[in-house]
Amino acid sequence: MNKEPIILAIESSCDDTGAAILKGQQVLSNIVASQKVHEIYGGVVPELASRAHQQNIVPVIDTAIKKAKINKKDINAVAFTKGPGLLGSLLVGSSFAKSFSLAMNIPLISVNHMQGHILSHFIDEGQKIPNFPFLCLTVSGGHTQIVKIDSPYQMQILGTTIDDAAGEAFDKSAKILGLPYPGGPLIDKHAKNGDIHAFKFGKPKVKELDFSFSGLKTSILYSIQKNIKKDPNFISKNLPDICASIQHTIVNILIEKTMKAIKQTGIKEIAIAGGVSANSYLRDQFEKLATDKKYNLYIPKFEYCTDNAAMIAIAGYYKFIQKDFAKQDSTPSSRLIF
Ligand code: KG4
Ligand code: ZN
Repeated sequence: MNKEPIILAIESSCDDTGAAILKGQQVLSNIVASQKVHEIYGGVVPELASRAHQQNIVPVIDTAIKKAKINKKDINAVAFTKGPGLLGSLLVGSSFAKSFSLAMNIPLISVNHMQGHILSHFIDEGQKIPNFPFLCLTVSGGHTQIVKIDSPYQMQILGTTIDDAAGEAFDKSAKILGLPYPGGPLIDKHAKNGDIHAFKFGKPKVKELDFSFSGLKTSILYSIQKNIKKDPNFISKNLPDICASIQHTIVNILIEKTMKAIKQTGIKEIAIAGGVSANSYLRDQFEKLATDKKYNLYIPKFEYCTDNAAMIAIAGYYKFIQKDFAKQDSTPSSRLIF
């Protein structure tokens, strides 16, 4: 095939149902249906997530095809998220993709969700793209990784979290403060009017390029409980300062480890990806660091930070040009590593 392939991609690893259509590296449509049902539970409820995906998947794909102004017969391949993620959620997307591939007689492509986050930098919107090799801090609700990327096909995880992910640290802190799920964006919002030095929380000591966030969560919990004993209205009186201090602590941990990775590898091409890369303070701090130290920094557009299917489609595109197709007996995997 000489012309640019048209790829339909489906993302259903967690609580967002996404469908996107790319022509080559350009987005024709990118639709995400977020699930509100989890807000009151303080986290994603897996069974409710799979049910919501079942309800959303056909309308979301239909909308993606209509918005792309194509006919479904124009689609050259269908890509889906194989993992990591919630198994019940992944099964909805993979089953749809397999059926579509069979019905339309087109290749099926399986994509690693975390590689999708990283490759979102290569969705073509005329922006500058990272030069290989580059380092990517991939921070989401389920993962925190520093990855060295040699090519779209060769990636190495240099460091990872030994317990909670950075997104979880945001969400669990928010839950302690009585904020609904997902709390990350709300901490970001309240922190804008707060003092980053108002409260101090214990920072973890973890070897090499690995991360840990569970101790921080406990430190935040104890500190809040202690203050509430003195003043029952402590949270409402100090919300911006608490949020700014929590955010500052998490972002500092991420920046310190990224700097360590830069020092160890000598690589000065730095990217961030994943839901937490939407955090305004993280973006600002990385921009400051890049200016100070003369690193080249790459930050995705907001819509490509949090879960979306355009990132699955771009990863699918790279597999398509290598004819790296999945078989019909391919199964999703909740703990998929690269
Ligand atoms: O990549 P993503 O959409 O889903 C996963 O693959 O997990 O990341 C979701 C995570 C959630 O923990 C959410 O709270 C966090 O990204 N997040 C943020 C912000 N926007 C999303 N965390 C802090 N600040 C934000 N602005
Ligand atoms: Zn994600």
